[in-house]
Amino acid sequence: MKPLVLCMPGNAEMGICLTEDLDGEIGTCEIRHFPDGESYVRIDSEVTNREVVIICTLNQPDNKLLPLFFLAQTARELGASRVGLVAPYLAYMRQDRQFNKGEAVTSRQFAHLISGPVDWLVTIDPHLHRIHDLNDIYPVESLTLHAAPMISQWIQQEIKNPLLVGPDEESEQWVAAVASEAAAPHIVLQKTRKGDKEVEVSVPDVDQWRACTPVLVDDIISTAHTMIETIDHLREEGMGAPVCIGVHGVFAGTAFHDLQEAGASRIVTSNTIPHETGVIDVSGLLLEGIRQILPKS
Ligand code: R5P
Repeated sequence: MKPLVLCMPGNAEMGICLTEDLDGEIGTCEIRHFPDGESYVRIDSEVTNREVVIICTLNQPDNKLLPLFFLAQTARELGASRVGLVAPYLAYMRQDRQFNKGEAVTSRQFAHLISGPVDWLVTIDPHLHRIHDLNDIYPVESLTLHAAPMISQWIQQEIKNPLLVGPDEESEQWVAAVASEAAAPHIVLQKTRKGDKEVEVSVPDVDQWRACTPVLVDDIISTAHTMIETIDHLREEGMGAPVCIGVHGVFAGTAFHDLQEAGASRIVTSNTIPHETGVIDVSGLLLEGIRQILPKS
């Protein structure tokens, strides 16, 4: 039987694209809110004994968690053989330890919550920093995919003489992988975070790279403060306007506008989160991941 793909609101474009290539069936479901704000969830498609694949990227996760939970649990209760979650962007990965006494370690708690009603998870470049493997915190089978080859390809096609720049040590893993596949040099800056919205960045010697086009690469652009601070420092060092690439364009509040205003020559992300910057298509990558998990037909 064909796998049934259910799309959470806002995920239809990715869901339809994946369903066609998977030779699956796009499911019909209704997810809305009652007037009092509680969630209403109904699955109209037949799910008994079927592989159910839910597509839900997890930016703005607090709004999505409960309806997602109800959808997955309902699929189970209606007899799905397995329920999987494809979350192109996985939230709550950055609070991975107690930075201050009494804080919730939400990456672990979120992992347990979301794993409750699902059997497997596929995602792209979760923020693995102090946690090295998603399977260390997710109690269900999880598969981590990497967008680096797609980003490298985009850089090779679009940017002449690039110098890849990582805004902090945490970004080294993404920048180094992208740089190596794009056969480009890279440097990594040092970042000190002083609060949710305040970061300080220092730049290594860039003399030998002055003729290059700086290409900032990070996993997440959220408030964009990390990138904005990096742009300011590169400018002080006499470098040209950089291209800014994030795997996940979260763009909290006015972040996109702020980054444009700060002097980014171009802002590009993958389509893990729907946004006008999402020109790097990762649907093929997700497809490979889902195929690894679903039984061969
Ligand atoms: C954290 O270390 C991440 O890799 C990103 O650098 C960070 O999440 C970016 O956040 P923001 O855009 O709010 O500075």
